[in-house]
Amino acid sequence: MCQACSIKIQSPDEFAGKLLGLLNGGAVSLMISLGHRAGLFDALSSGGPANSHELAERAGLNERYVREWLGAMVTGEIVDYEPESQRYVLPESHAALLTRDADANIAVPFQFLPVLAQVEDEVLECFKNGGGVPYAKFPRFHEVMAEESDQTVVSGLESAILPLVDGMTESLETGASLLDVGCGRGHALMALAERFPESRFTGYDLSDDTIAYATEQAEARGLTNIRFAARDLTEFAEPGTYDFVTGFDVIHDQKSPAGLLSGVHASLKPGGVFLAQDILGSSDVAKNIGGPLAPFIYTISCMHCMTVSLAQGGAGLGAAWGRELAVEMMDDAGFESVEVNTLEHDVMNYFYVCRKSDS
Ligand SMILES: C[S@@+](CC[C@H](N)C(=O)[O-])C[C@H]1O[C@@H](n2cnc3c(N)ncnc32)[C@H](O)[C@@H]1O
Repeated sequence: MCQACSIKIQSPDEFAGKLLGLLNGGAVSLMISLGHRAGLFDALSSGGPANSHELAERAGLNERYVREWLGAMVTGEIVDYEPESQRYVLPESHAALLTRDADANIAVPFQFLPVLAQVEDEVLECFKNGGGVPYAKFPRFHEVMAEESDQTVVSGLESAILPLVDGMTESLETGASLLDVGCGRGHALMALAERFPESRFTGYDLSDDTIAYATEQAEARGLTNIRFAARDLTEFAEPGTYDFVTGFDVIHDQKSPAGLLSGVHASLKPGGVFLAQDILGSSDVAKNIGGPLAPFIYTISCMHCMTVSLAQGGAGLGAAWGRELAVEMMDDAGFESVEVNTLEHDVMNYFYVCRKSDS
């Protein structure tokens, strides 16, 4: 028996069982992503029990594919099956976590797995030769990220996230300036601009595509108090400009996380606040063992967050940089205080409140 081991070492039989469970879990995960994208969970839930023909017709899909998907869902114990009627049922308690009507649709982050799998060859090359895989190589990343952000940021903005900063809601109601760094498709910023018409909102992101998308959406929504611009934030600073800066799931995958933190600090007015959402966990891998999403976080870090930073010639900090290092780097950037919060609606992230001194 290993004396200093951090994990439980299993017998070959037990370990084989674990590996097969992982293989099945990976396979079912791909089918959950597909089922979400194809609208199959929604169709099964809204229309009630159905055989494969009825479900295919309801969802406007090909029956042969739907039947095979249902096979994976039934044997993966996601969907129930009534052999006599040959009908499939999505139990209510499962629909509550897998449909677009759900408060938190856990099918959404499953889409990251096929997104990552598409760059496996490029990441393998980096294992051999170093370097990174740039953002542009990840098909659908920004689309999936925006869908995820709707759940972890937009849904909780007013009820849970803004109240972390005393007086922030009131200040935005009266009229304040807010910058969102690495705004992606800008869903959170647009929600803020709509809710607080007296305030002015700016969103910067490296990606031309996401900025074009956000600008078009903001125009379509008739928002006149918002501005998006494509911008590399590596050397960023607009001294003393903003009352608030937000950064949702953004610091760790930058080319220079330390540079961005300093730039954010400089860009705030005295007494300004930086509100950042970033991945929950410790900087010490041993403390992350048993974390409910730890393997997912290290995987998405290796195959996305870390590699996109390295592709810019950056620090490659990774999603698992952890609370201890995050607080140290926020202190080093000059913030007077750093508070770390967790929120019930988002089990994957911390919410850091970093205050700039008012002198
Ligand atoms: C994980 S995504 C989060 C996007 C958005 N905040 C959200 O929650 O949906 C990180 C964002 O940082 C942007 N980004 C990465 N490196 C950047 C850089 N050097 N300058 C500006 N933005 C950058 C990416 O384009 C991406 O949109």
